[in-house]
Amino acid sequence: MHRVIIDTDPGQDDAFALLLAIASPDVEVIGVTTVAGNVPVAQTADNARRIVELAGRPDIPVFAGAAGPILRAPRPVPEIHGDTGIDGWAWAPPAHPIRPEHAVDWLVETLLREPVGAVTLIALAPQTNLALALRREPAIAARIRQVVFMGGGYFEGGNMTPAAEYNILVDPEAAAIVLGAGMDVTAAPIDCTHSAPAPIDWSMQLEAMDTQVGRACAGMMRFFERHGIAKYGTPTRPLHDAIAVGALLWPDLFEGRRCPVEFECAGQLTTGMTVVDWLRQTGKADNCLWLRRCLDPAELYRRMQVELSRLPAT
Ligand code: RIB
Ligand code: CA
Repeated sequence: MHRVIIDTDPGQDDAFALLLAIASPDVEVIGVTTVAGNVPVAQTADNARRIVELAGRPDIPVFAGAAGPILRAPRPVPEIHGDTGIDGWAWAPPAHPIRPEHAVDWLVETLLREPVGAVTLIALAPQTNLALALRREPAIAARIRQVVFMGGGYFEGGNMTPAAEYNILVDPEAAAIVLGAGMDVTAAPIDCTHSAPAPIDWSMQLEAMDTQVGRACAGMMRFFERHGIAKYGTPTRPLHDAIAVGALLWPDLFEGRRCPVEFECAGQLTTGMTVVDWLRQTGKADNCLWLRRCLDPAELYRRMQVELSRLPAT
């Protein structure tokens, strides 16, 4: 059983990740922290509440966190995710209030309260909240079981600049703080996610589930794909954040290597670049399990759909 906190900036792929984690009998989601990313934090917080309610779990607490990166300006991407961030479905307004505590405060108090090694952090957004929590209370680093994050790219370069993937580019300083805290970290970069595009007919398969979750996921998938077709010319898209949750649930479907990884925070052309010492040429310590590829994308999405089908039909 994985007891997890999910830090997120919904985003259609974040929505799939949240639904997958909530649906899985092997995961207990103890809270969702939201952050400025794909859309502003007020919107990501609203979106996270809509998603947990769609999953039939309004009891899962949702917290709003940082309104922007540590040093840099926010970089919303409505051209990718739409103005709401989860375009593609007619979402009802969230029915339950957001929790009053700031996400960073809740992260610190929860990680100090939970037993050592009990909680896994799943980071699906710019890592501002996690970095601020580590700066506020460094002792939480030794208490966290594992960090699994979606972000970065090395063999695939970047998806926002030639060198940088979005989650790292938005707040490279935060990513450097998290990766430098000595925790057990697994990365699901675009190297891995680009090896696992969704099946060409997945939105139809989701629709055929004939559940509210299936219809919402089909609509979000179709919306998410249109950007991919325009930018990559591919008929479908990888659900980046859901793949990161898949890496936690089903490590047998992935291959990678523990190696030294660092983030460029001061490059003229390479800010946000992930520098992966794949051949260990620097002599530095391994600090990250870098997932290079998914071994069986069809099986990954098949398993995802099995989990999504567990969620309430209405
Ligand atoms: O580069 C992909 C990442 O950026 C995903 O987490 C997506 O939701 C966006 O935040
Ligand atoms: Ca995200």
